[in-house]
Amino acid sequence: MSERTLVLVKPDGVERGLIGEVISRIERKGLRLVALEMRHVDRKLAEQHYAEHDGKPFFESLLEFITSGPVVAAVVEGPKAVAAFRQIAGGTDPVEKADAGSLRGDYGLEVQYNLVHGSDSPESAERELKLWFPDLQA
Ligand code: CMP
Repeated sequence: MSERTLVLVKPDGVERGLIGEVISRIERKGLRLVALEMRHVDRKLAEQHYAEHDGKPFFESLLEFITSGPVVAAVVEGPKAVAAFRQIAGGTDPVEKADAGSLRGDYGLEVQYNLVHGSDSPESAERELKLWFPDLQA
């Protein structure tokens, strides 16, 4: 059974030239890219995407950061795609939670600048994919 997840290379990952590295690891794992697009995130999309963090102390700086430069948004498909990409990404905090060998473990230092986003559950993936790629066929 195949599923889909939303992957973002955040502005820090784009700025640091890590788009190829992220895509390469997705492909090497055996996952498939269904859509891929570089875009600038406006405030409205940022607020919708991060709605569950509204009210948290880091919410405003998170919005500023994600709208600060281009991101790469990808729809990634495969068996257990949500968990598979989370394994590739590593835990949210690049030092405290991400294992060496993961993207965040290998390239990140700070929780806000953690390079990539991956949907955290199949339900989140469905919501986020509708938000980012409303015209994509199932
Ligand atoms: P992401 O997977 O995109 O989902 C929510 C994001 O909030 C997370 O990655 C981090 O970039 C950010 N985040 C989580 N906790 C903190 C924190 N304590 N301070 C700043 N940013 C955070």
